[in-house]
Amino acid sequence: MTVANEFVVVGPRPLRGRVRIPGDKGISHRALIAAALADGVSTIAHLGPGDDVVRTRHALAALGVTMTVDGGTLEVTGRGVEALHEPANDIDCGNSGTTMRMLAGLLAGRPFPSVLIGDDSLSQRPMQRVIAPLRVLGADIDGRGDGGVAPLVIRGGPLVGTRVELEVASGQVKTALVLAGLQASGTTEIVEPAASRDHTERLFSALGAPIERIDERTIRVHAGAPDPFTADVPGDPSSAAFFVVAATITPGSEIVIEDVLLNPGRLEFVEVLRAMGADISVVSDGDHLGEPVGSIKVRATDLHAASFKCSEPIIDEVPVLAVAAAFADGATEITNAAELRVKESNRITTVEQELTKLGVRVDATADGLLVHGGRPHAATCTSHGDHRVAMAIAVAGNALEGESHIQEWGSVAVSYPEFAQDLERLTVAK
Ligand code: S3P
Repeated sequence: MTVANEFVVVGPRPLRGRVRIPGDKGISHRALIAAALADGVSTIAHLGPGDDVVRTRHALAALGVTMTVDGGTLEVTGRGVEALHEPANDIDCGNSGTTMRMLAGLLAGRPFPSVLIGDDSLSQRPMQRVIAPLRVLGADIDGRGDGGVAPLVIRGGPLVGTRVELEVASGQVKTALVLAGLQASGTTEIVEPAASRDHTERLFSALGAPIERIDERTIRVHAGAPDPFTADVPGDPSSAAFFVVAATITPGSEIVIEDVLLNPGRLEFVEVLRAMGADISVVSDGDHLGEPVGSIKVRATDLHAASFKCSEPIIDEVPVLAVAAAFADGATEITNAAELRVKESNRITTVEQELTKLGVRVDATADGLLVHGGRPHAATCTSHGDHRVAMAIAVAGNALEGESHIQEWGSVAVSYPEFAQDLERLTVAK
């Protein structure tokens, strides 16, 4: 879907009603890869619609995996990892760090060469964090700038399992190591400096792959593969977060977001918002493929400042939490968030710049942001090509009197191409 390059939002418009948001991006990447590694036919409903997930899909197709779309469901015919073949061209990961880092682990164990490329933003993002630990397993992989950045060149070959200590807490890097470990001889132990999102462990072990959690920071992987499966990808909590904040800060709002992933780490943003006074209730409907799923209900409330320390699973929500802080009474300090500097944009700088345009005083710190809540006003802003910055500013604009413009809006296609339409549906008078 093509997305217009400027979004104009006129507020304030309360949000009311129920919405089902697109399938979780992280689970969509993982389900595609699991289906490709399984021996048999898997079906995936509600796959995330964003360009990042499309990149993983196309990459797997280039490696020989057959996929057909039947209605809203994708049918993937996997023939096991051995059936993957050398791609005819470089694999273009676009803006998707998840595609690039996960595929690096998958391809490191295959007996053919491959090259992973990305757009300008992805070509500046750090890759040493995935290259170095894969080399510990014997991978022959390198990148431009001394192995620091893409393009990545992989001369695949046999891998040997061992204990690998990761430098950075990263769900993407951990997944790369799991995908390498599933192809390696012996046992691979992956130790993280802090817990990162755990979707890979949950999904792959639910599908019978030999992965076990040893303790909070360590997982153990043996050679093996997942079984074929039928999946219905739950809604993405990182996308839900935009509507949760929009409904909280726009007076008169009351919404229910249905069929959302309720993975505890991914819901940490709810805890932060509750500490600021938000009125949010979460109801679980049960589990699907190792993940809890349910609904989130939100009512508008006044917020007060509440500082928080960022962990990896909540990092994607910081731009929209900064918007919540901009509408709160008092100063909110966000710490331990230096990773924001190496996301799709330098989010410490881009969030600071854009909130400043909305009349909010923001101080960028070495590892985060200090947001002085107050009285934001409508303005013309830009996304800096970053989907989460675009949607966070739209959420602010929706709550403000008058017309806000968000330029470089097309970036929302990366994770949520229909965000504007879903916001519109929730804000039409009911
Ligand atoms: C993701 C992990 C996070 C997150 C990204 C998706 C994942 O990145 O920001 O959007 O699916 O595992 P890191 O791996 O860099 O922490």
